[in-house]
Amino acid sequence: MDPTPATQALYNKDNPFPALIRENRLLSGSGSAKETRHFVVDIKGSGLAYKCGDSLGIFPQNPPELVEEVIRLLGATGEEPVSPPRSDEVLPLCEALLSRVSLATPTKKTLQFLLPRLENPHSREQLEKLLMPEFAERLQDYLSQREIIDLLEEFPGARIDPKELVPELRKLVPRLYSIASSPVCHPDEVHLTIAVVRYQTNNRQRLGVCSTFVADRVQPHQQTVPVFVASAHFGLPEDPERDIIMVGPGTGVAPFRAFLQERIATGATGRNWLFFGDQHHATDYLYGEEFDAWHRDGKLHRLDLAWSRDQEHKIYVQNRMLEHASEIWKWLDGGAIFYVCGDAKRMAKDVDAALHDIIAQGAGLDAAGAADYVKQMKKDRRYQRDVY
Ligand SMILES: Cc1cc2nc3c(=O)[nH]c(=O)nc-3n(C[C@H](O)[C@H](O)[C@H](O)COP(=O)(O)OP(=O)(O)OC[C@H]3O[C@@H](n4cnc5c(N)ncnc54)[C@H](O)[C@@H]3O)c2cc1C
Ligand SMILES: NC(=O)c1ccc[n+]([C@@H]2O[C@H](COP(=O)([O-])OP(=O)(O)OC[C@H]3O[C@@H](n4cnc5c(N)ncnc54)[C@H](OP(=O)(O)O)[C@@H]3O)[C@@H](O)[C@H]2O)c1
Repeated sequence: MDPTPATQALYNKDNPFPALIRENRLLSGSGSAKETRHFVVDIKGSGLAYKCGDSLGIFPQNPPELVEEVIRLLGATGEEPVSPPRSDEVLPLCEALLSRVSLATPTKKTLQFLLPRLENPHSREQLEKLLMPEFAERLQDYLSQREIIDLLEEFPGARIDPKELVPELRKLVPRLYSIASSPVCHPDEVHLTIAVVRYQTNNRQRLGVCSTFVADRVQPHQQTVPVFVASAHFGLPEDPERDIIMVGPGTGVAPFRAFLQERIATGATGRNWLFFGDQHHATDYLYGEEFDAWHRDGKLHRLDLAWSRDQEHKIYVQNRMLEHASEIWKWLDGGAIFYVCGDAKRMAKDVDAALHDIIAQGAGLDAAGAADYVKQMKKDRRYQRDVY
């Protein structure tokens, strides 16, 4: 039964909507080093409204096999009553480990919790050493390679009461995903573009909690996932005549697929320019057919692609931007909005530097002048970033 209107408004982060996943499709081609997937989340009847640029929050669950292994190493049954961190709620250990605490991020505090509970003097000595202030760097390196399960294995025989352990762990928090659909075209659906996180540390296969939850563990059409809409100060201009420049390599392209869907559906007359990049043209051109078709039809006015691993030297989106510096400057000078989405650590910084260079060159400004220009763009909401 659909929720009643009175309950509809209540769906938010504190009361997420149980949504079905309607589609889970691989976007990366065979032979790609990546596993990027397209998801369709059904929000019909939820009363959830979204706009282009918003994100969808998902509350994930840890892998059940990992939960079982942790319970076994604790010598517990899973039925022990425990309280999640910063909560008075009481629930069985297995439920808390599945959906309330992070099993992936031990901290110094976790080790300090473990220390007095170690019965083996050798283990205690080892851990005491690791916790010495002079080994802070080594401790960080150690923790970055480990999850809770590694600690339980490396320090066996500790007397750990689950009731004491669980409140000491970090809360399992929801993950956000940029929405890749326009509500004008898909009012009852939210599309997502998710890079599935899998990697090895300390000789163990690790699974990104939320990306593998939706990719591997949620049965489409059968099982619901708790979701909410996180609205953002990132979005299309009210003025449909305004030109927009979008830089979104990898999964950073998600909101720009939404922007383009909406601008095309509403007949916005401003021009659209997309910079997309990833490793290989043959396997990593996410939504390539859609972008190529819009480009061919003149709806996506400019499309520049950067394949980082199709040749010896790296070609990134900012290299393409610099190749078209004077044209970008003309668009900016005419009032275009500049958007960036995707990797915060490397890409967004380099794109920012390229933007400064383009402005300095185009406007004939020195570095300080270009920085002022960019500052003003930000104030005017003509430079918007959604980076993570
Ligand atoms: C506003 C916003 C929008 C976002 N939009 C998107 C989107 O559209 N698509 C998308 O895919 N993601 C997006 N993200 C990122 C997303 O929220 C998650 O962070 C991402 O999916 C990873 O979550 P996870 O639970 O699968 O992995 P987690 O369990 O959180 O694990 C990720 C962590 O694993 C570690 N890690 C990852 N790879 C390695 C490695 N190779 N070696 C060692 N350690 C590693 C890192 O510490 C990393 O932080 C967005 C984030 C924000 C804040
Ligand atoms: N924690 C990690 O180790 C790690 C690693 C990768 C991605 N991520 C995160 O995973 C998410 C999804 O990643 P994704 O696969 O969608 O995209 P991505 O890893 O950001 O890659 C997309 C494209 O950007 C290129 N790139 C790398 N460095 C760049 C730079 N400095 N400037 C411009 N482009 C650059 C990549 O090239 P190359 O890969 O050929 O360099 C690739 O062609 C993002 O949040 C990202 O931050 C995390």
